[in-house]
Amino acid sequence: MNQRMPIRFAGTGAYMPDEVITNEHFAGYLDTSDEWIQTRTGIRERRKSTEEEYTSVLARKASERALENASMDPKELDLIICATATPDYLFPSTASVIQGELGAVNAGAFDVSAACAGFMHAAAAASGLISSGIHETVLIIGAERLTRFIDNHERGTVVIFGDGAGAAVLTKSKSPEQSVLYCNLGCDGTRTEDIWLPAGGSRFPASHDTIDGRKHYMHMRGRDVYKFAVVKIIREIERALEATGLKADDLKLVIPHQSNLRIIESVRAKMGLPMEQFAVNIDRYGNTSAASVPVAFDEARRDGRVGDGDLVLMIALGAGLTWGTMIIQL
Ligand code: UT7
Repeated sequence: MNQRMPIRFAGTGAYMPDEVITNEHFAGYLDTSDEWIQTRTGIRERRKSTEEEYTSVLARKASERALENASMDPKELDLIICATATPDYLFPSTASVIQGELGAVNAGAFDVSAACAGFMHAAAAASGLISSGIHETVLIIGAERLTRFIDNHERGTVVIFGDGAGAAVLTKSKSPEQSVLYCNLGCDGTRTEDIWLPAGGSRFPASHDTIDGRKHYMHMRGRDVYKFAVVKIIREIERALEATGLKADDLKLVIPHQSNLRIIESVRAKMGLPMEQFAVNIDRYGNTSAASVPVAFDEARRDGRVGDGDLVLMIALGAGLTWGTMIIQL
């Protein structure tokens, strides 16, 4: 897709839980160190939700901030799409819970399951629905409570992931500039076991075996995903630039999924851009899966790093393996 879609990002918001978990916390009971975690991932700390902060609560708080930022009432929403790999329930959708709690009585609601690339999938769906005229104002959310799905004794995952939520209100744009310029989604469905949470679904319903086998936790082949991600992200950015006729320099900001600072650094080096052109918050929040791109986007808007007319590229890759890329003009 390289046809401009008249979409406006009318407001953004984020909510990060208060509790900070430092690298030293893990070094206190696992065979790991602050030095290993910082050098291999770029993470210094991450956030953990309280007992009452379910995914829907994180999402609702981010959504309220996005609506306030857009100066909109929840009743103006036509649709809510929540991207999450850590929903409140298998069903109903977390988006339904959010709809009820926001009082967004005029909105439909559904979840998107594309893990770390979920927000890009939600943004693509919302853009298509708005530009086709099916919906006019859509709230999209990336929200995760990964700390509840991680084995606290698995050093390869526990140090990486954190909780949080980011949201954006998308609506029809009246100006020809303000638009989605490019949007593309992809998947390699032969790699479903590279990052997965095997049990609790219809294939391996909860049983003593699934619990004893620690199958209700997420598992990741980190090195394999790392290698795949570097090559794929670079290729997808090149594809997006080629399709739009833009140069890397034209982008005000690149917002990559915050999975590993070394992945971001490899992409930056290949694009020949300075690090200032990249949004980075992995040092403070770790990998928050579907929340990472919208949280970084909200920070960039509020800090004034991006504003009206700026070109922004967002890209994320995660379990599935799935990926999504979008270039927008604010
Ligand atoms: O968000 C969805 C997409 N996900 C990604 O893009 C994740 C991509 N992958 C990564 O970011 C990296 O692969 C990790 C950060 C997960 C791991 O870093 P790595 O440099 O790829 O390490 P590795 O998995 O190749 O492991 C190297 C060594 C191993 O020890 P041995 O077998 O060489 O003795 C691991 O057991 O590092 C060990 N290790 C650790 N050591 C200290 C793994 N985790 C830790 C740890 N502390 N926390």
